[in-house]
Amino acid sequence: MENRPLKLSSLKGKIVAIDGPAGSGKSTTSKLIAARIGYTYLDTGAMYRALTYYALTNKIDLSDGEKLTKLAHILPIEFKTSEDVNRVFLNGVEVTDEIRRPDVTKNASEVAAHKGVREAMVRKQQEFGKHGSIVAEGRDTTTVVFPKADLKIYLNATVEQRAQRRLLDLMRMGITTTLEELQEDIKNRDHKDSSREHSPLMKAKDAVVVDTTNMTLEGQVDYIVNLIRTTFK
Ligand code: DC
Repeated sequence: MENRPLKLSSLKGKIVAIDGPAGSGKSTTSKLIAARIGYTYLDTGAMYRALTYYALTNKIDLSDGEKLTKLAHILPIEFKTSEDVNRVFLNGVEVTDEIRRPDVTKNASEVAAHKGVREAMVRKQQEFGKHGSIVAEGRDTTTVVFPKADLKIYLNATVEQRAQRRLLDLMRMGITTTLEELQEDIKNRDHKDSSREHSPLMKAKDAVVVDTTNMTLEGQVDYIVNLIRTTFK
């Protein structure tokens, strides 16, 4: 992978938005791209995860959209990057690892489906990106959060490949599960994320589709940095 920082004067203040289904490689790819072009990385999924974690920890009914919406407005969620790790803080307490737990992953779709929750989160995300120079990733960053993004990308990969990647990630975290279980989980999440009423996952008309099934992480990053280079030249 070419690690040279990309320096283009035309890069200043732009918004790169990347959407795609679970396990398509959005998070890792977006983080590396942001580092290469000197942009801030915004992981919108981490915000829904942080709220889900809070709700599970405090035994809040996940179907209570009103209560979750109130929380989405007031709960302080912050990001801090240190040693190349994008750390997430909720109420000033670090929850970077906690929000990746399988129970949080499983329940985040339900929390993220509430209209009020989405509105609150989208507002925070737009505020975060108001000065541009941001790589935002999630499910609706190309369609709802930043519909006027300067470059929109839809990352995708087969369910099998996405489950395989998730398995490796979880193994690294010391969590044991099976490939079959993860495939089922991913299919369920795809269905929930794509069929929900409010801001479902979909490809924006003007998004560039990048199928990462047969790409290495380095290949994905290089490919998208090249897209940025040609789009913003
Ligand atoms: O990308 P992720 O797996 O960390 O996302 C966690 C959950 O949040 C997942 O169920 C989809 C949801 N999400 C969403 O609804 N909208 C976003 N912009 C980002 C994530």
